[in-house]
Amino acid sequence: MSFDPTAPAPISADREGSPAPIPPGVVPDLLFQTGYDRLYADDPVGAARTFRKACAADPASGDAWAALADAAQAADDTATAVHAYGCAVLIDSGVWAWRVGLADSLLRAGRPTAAVAAYSGLAAERPDAALVRLGFARALLAEGRKDEALEEFREAAALRPDDRDAVLELSSALIEAGDALGAVERLQPLSRRDPDDAVLHHAIGRAWIALREPEKALAALRKARDLDSDDSLGSAALIAALEAGEGADLSAAYVRALFDRYADRFDQDLVGKLGYAAPELLRRAVDRLGGGNGLRVLDLGCGTGLAGVTFRSLAGHLAGVDLSPRMVDKARARALYDDLWVGDVAAALDPTLDPALDPAPAGWDLLVAADVLVYIGDLAPVFRAAADALRPGGRFAATVERLDGDGFALGPTRRYAHAEAYLRAMAEAAGLRILMLEPCAPRREKGVDVPGLLFVAEKPL
Ligand SMILES: C[S@@+](CC[C@H](N)C(=O)[O-])C[C@H]1O[C@@H](n2cnc3c(N)ncnc32)[C@H](O)[C@@H]1O
Repeated sequence: MSFDPTAPAPISADREGSPAPIPPGVVPDLLFQTGYDRLYADDPVGAARTFRKACAADPASGDAWAALADAAQAADDTATAVHAYGCAVLIDSGVWAWRVGLADSLLRAGRPTAAVAAYSGLAAERPDAALVRLGFARALLAEGRKDEALEEFREAAALRPDDRDAVLELSSALIEAGDALGAVERLQPLSRRDPDDAVLHHAIGRAWIALREPEKALAALRKARDLDSDDSLGSAALIAALEAGEGADLSAAYVRALFDRYADRFDQDLVGKLGYAAPELLRRAVDRLGGGNGLRVLDLGCGTGLAGVTFRSLAGHLAGVDLSPRMVDKARARALYDDLWVGDVAAALDPTLDPALDPAPAGWDLLVAADVLVYIGDLAPVFRAAADALRPGGRFAATVERLDGDGFALGPTRRYAHAEAYLRAMAEAAGLRILMLEPCAPRREKGVDVPGLLFVAEKPL
């Protein structure tokens, strides 16, 4: 990027007339005074016209170029702002505010790559400058570098946890990255401090939507709508959709965030406190039906690998897949699995859905889903994909929570329960034969057994 203070500023700021000739060398105070008077009187175009005269009078005055840049920025004349800040920085690169202004104007001018370059230099020089980190994050985001942008938003918000803009932008990036819970945790303290801020309520509502918590989303969005009389935030449409029942199913983002956060405590909580027994119950069921060992086993929703521990001795090849990268890290640390992937159950069963997953070819002898289908409501796609992925004679063994009645339902615990009749119908529709379907207690909750069902279905020879 090169700037030439001796060249005239772009014509766009000078639509309303050419500068009158002024003797070079000295910028008359009057021009500055008039320019700032206009700027503060909300006339940035007039201010820019005056500051342009100042630049013409003394092209070596960084102050004149910076004043023109400020006025142009306020007038949304981004080309002039970039040029004028560039000239100011060329004249004196030691003025921090001018360098920040240049980076900011590049971003506003739709030049994210140049803005990233400018901001990265500034951030390296002063890593504790929150506004620079925020600008850097915005520039990275504009350039499509979402992960790096998220890290910079985190830095900006950490430097200024009370800065509403930084927290709002961090929260959108978190929601986008699948950590809507992180967004809620950051937004709520600000909202408690300023309960009349509609924007914060609206952002919280959006985060709850991403978390598939419709009741909480509705509560937040209704507050936003009440505070935002002309509904400039668009809360009403979201409320209507939620009231119509949309957004009630569990999203992959929600499940991933839930288990990423839970990964460190999972084994201790589930096995220790909740008497978790699903893997053990499934292993006993599979053993009862016979079928030998040395099997190709795929652990669906493997989590930290508890079912891997139980099924390893049966497996010649043991693979696992889970939505949560942190759960998969824990499973990997057990060094039990031959293959592990981060991804969705359905994509692992049907590699055409996500070629990036690149799992081993189908033809599994045994598919295990211990306490996983409780996070998936409609099981039709899973049964269908399981039937395709099994070799003839292969089996699909899983636990679910039991629903009395038919179909499936999302409970207040944010887990689905499935009815026995529904499981039978799903298996039949997929061409699988139920070998076993019986009550079980996969875990306890508040000291009481959670009613469950365990099934083993087979793909006919
Ligand atoms: C309660 S844990 C059970 C983990 C493991 N099966 C066990 O028995 O310890 C449920 C796991 O299923 C994973 N999960 C839920 N829905 C999934 C999906 N659609 N695809 C892949 N993994 C999923 C979660 O990330 C979580 O690790």
